[in-house]
Amino acid sequence: LIGIVGTGRLGSNLAMSIALESLDDLTLIDIIEGLPEGEALDIRHMCAQVGSDVSVKGSNDFSALAGSDLIVVPAGFGRRPGMTRLDLLNQNFTVIRDVSAKIAKYAPEAKILMVTNPVDVMTWVALKVSGFGRERVFGMGGLLDSCRFAMEVAEKLGVSRTSVHVLVIGEHGESMLPLYRYSSVSGIPLSNLMTLHEVDELVARTRKAAADVISKKGATVHAPVQSILKMVRAVKFDQKAVLPVSCYLDGEYGVRDLCIGVPAQIGKDGVERIKELDLNEAERDVFMKGVKALKDAISSLKM
Ligand SMILES: NC(=O)c1ccc[n+]([C@@H]2O[C@H](COP(=O)([O-])OP(=O)(O)OC[C@H]3O[C@@H](n4cnc5c(N)ncnc54)[C@H](O)[C@@H]3O)[C@@H](O)[C@H]2O)c1
Repeated sequence: LIGIVGTGRLGSNLAMSIALESLDDLTLIDIIEGLPEGEALDIRHMCAQVGSDVSVKGSNDFSALAGSDLIVVPAGFGRRPGMTRLDLLNQNFTVIRDVSAKIAKYAPEAKILMVTNPVDVMTWVALKVSGFGRERVFGMGGLLDSCRFAMEVAEKLGVSRTSVHVLVIGEHGESMLPLYRYSSVSGIPLSNLMTLHEVDELVARTRKAAADVISKKGATVHAPVQSILKMVRAVKFDQKAVLPVSCYLDGEYGVRDLCIGVPAQIGKDGVERIKELDLNEAERDVFMKGVKALKDAISSLKM
């Protein structure tokens, strides 16, 4: 059973995708009266059309989450044009503190997949408030940044998107770290295919990709939903997929007591292993800039 808390743009589209794949039964939760029930009903109608037999229920009552294995949380406020993700800190902190306490109460065995921004901080808040082990609380950010970087690389080189393999780690925010040294076109390092200056241009475009979409259509939806879905499948099918995920670090990368994007193995137990990469000096500088921004944000919260 998969729970989704927050059935706005991301939550409702994610529910639709999960139902289309008949991936699992669903419980939808939102604070807006009628909204989760309405989404559930609309999706069940869709299921009758496409031939999916998953159960889809909606409620304003968090006790409906009981028995969930995985709870995805895209609840709260999104950015408006001109805002950074960290500008959402205070309003979403209140939402996520409340949601996490209710998840711990009604679904104490669940794993939490955080989506709400700033996602690295909100993952940390969910971990602290729920009291869950660090393998059970993780966030989606780097996977979305990675598909944006991959799209830039594919369009620049005129190759299929399916041939491009990239890795973006670090803060899901202004200091995200697209790692071109660990990115390739079917194994051919990016450094063989373009100049460093060209890579830098693509990295800059990747960093502002979300803001571009938000300035034009108000919110990002399709790319984040499919990125979340990839993580949901990794858990559901125990794939042991190695993905960039916001994880709680306890000494890895020389960082303690913070959630930030790093490559991790994701399976039925959640974060099963964190992969440590050797970062060169320039990469480490960007990574640590993200660490500092997140530490500052966390220390401003009144837990
Ligand atoms: N991690 C990422 O990569 C990523 C990508 C895109 C968006 N986001 C973030 O995801 C969040 C959701 O985005 P969206 O576009 O779906 O927003 P949205 O406004 O469309 O939906 C949010 C929903 O959350 C609900 N909600 C608010 N407080 C709640 C609470 N206490 N309990 C339950 N539900 C509650 C709202 O009623 C609303 O329906 C935003 O914070 C956005 O910044 C993250």
